[in-house]
Amino acid sequence: RGSMRQTERLAADAAGLDRAADVLRGGGLLAFPTETVYGLGADATDAEAVAGIYAAKERPSFNPLISHLASFESARVQGLFDETATRLAETFWPGPLTLVVPVAPTCTVSDLARAGLDSVGLRVPAHPLAHALLERTGRPVAAPSANRSGRVSPTDADHVLGDLDGRIDAVLDGGAAQVGVESTIVSCLGGTPRLLRPGGVPREAIEALVGEKLETGGEAGSSPLAPGMLASHYAPRAQVRLNATDIRPGEAALLFGPGVPHGTETAQATLNLSKNGDLVEAAARLFSYLRQLDASGAATIAVSPVPETGLGEAINDRLRRAAAER
Ligand code: TXA
Ligand code: MG
Repeated sequence: RGSMRQTERLAADAAGLDRAADVLRGGGLLAFPTETVYGLGADATDAEAVAGIYAAKERPSFNPLISHLASFESARVQGLFDETATRLAETFWPGPLTLVVPVAPTCTVSDLARAGLDSVGLRVPAHPLAHALLERTGRPVAAPSANRSGRVSPTDADHVLGDLDGRIDAVLDGGAAQVGVESTIVSCLGGTPRLLRPGGVPREAIEALVGEKLETGGEAGSSPLAPGMLASHYAPRAQVRLNATDIRPGEAALLFGPGVPHGTETAQATLNLSKNGDLVEAAARLFSYLRQLDASGAATIAVSPVPETGLGEAINDRLRRAAAER
């Protein structure tokens, strides 16, 4: 994944939709239209497929992605909706609104798509093709905008191909997207809902429904938050020691590649992100392995050097944040 491949352009008919759903269910990358912008989709439950999104976009950091669903009913399997979130979903779905809610015990969205958080971003798009695709796929589909990192969001299939031709499996061509700006993101994690990103649904419409002003700030990836605000990044409880070439007594070891550093025998716990040095595999495992090593009770997680190429840039960005957040 992340390598060059032939990109198919799929027509907006039954055969095209069937093929598009097959691409997603097979762990591939599919760009598809929504009413806001074209999304670059992958099966959200398949962490390796999700890692492929970051590789194709050349995104240098792991932010939580939005998981798209065919209905509120299927969204409820993934997230916990309090009274306010329920009213927002019932009023604005399907449509250009994303709700960030606590993960449900039945959540199948991968750690990587959630960037390791205990919350999940969910959206039920209104575009008829997106809806038909999600029904056929039968799984949550993680999808950021279908552009390379740093470029503008695409609103038609030609924009998508201009950026991603040869890097994704297919684009479902549904003509021009209508809204052209991304969905509004509102988090409902208890207390007053927070506007994380303005977008297709105006703030006033949400405030009118909620009956109070929304809090603002806190989109993942934006500037650091004041204490007490929504934690936008998962941080392990343990200290994180980077570029470890040996493992010290009592440390947990997060390895990368075939080498076995000195001291690994006495580590509190050891996991290898990818024994053969595959960065896509490493990205897919990163958050769950950090959690598992944290659960070992070790005070420090020692991490082998990870190359700064391809997905290594995003992996290292995340590891550096984990090492610094103290
Ligand atoms: O219109 C849209 O929203 C488009 C179309 C394709 O649906 N999608 C989109 O996705 O813009 P994306 O992945 O670029 O948006 C991701 C943003 C993150 O930067 C973060 O702000 C927010 O969604 N997000 C998602 N899950 C979150 C979570 N658990 N906690 C906090 N923020 C979350
Ligand atoms: Mg974007």
